[in-house]
Amino acid sequence: MPKIEFRAESRTVECAPGTPLRDVCDQSKAKVPFGCRNGVCGTCEVIVMSGSENLSPVVAPEKETIESFGIPKGHRLACQVKVLGDCAVQPI
Ligand code: FES
Repeated sequence: MPKIEFRAESRTVECAPGTPLRDVCDQSKAKVPFGCRNGVCGTCEVIVMSGSENLSPVVAPEKETIESFGIPKGHRLACQVKVLGDCAVQPI
């Protein structure tokens, strides 16, 4: 089971492989803010502190939002990411 560390909250939760990070945040009541939940508004931007290789690839609409907002490399939109392995994230 993948482990997701919410670095700012100093806690780690587990989820089934392929679980949307959005669902992990909801179920664990992680302090990641959400807006549209569709990859458009950028509200759910997180810094991936480790394990970026264990997250689903960046595809539309996340790709377009990252480009249009100038979101830095290494940051992802929590509403668009699926967790495939261990990682650590932190809201911006
Ligand atoms: S909540 Fe809007 S982009 Fe994720």
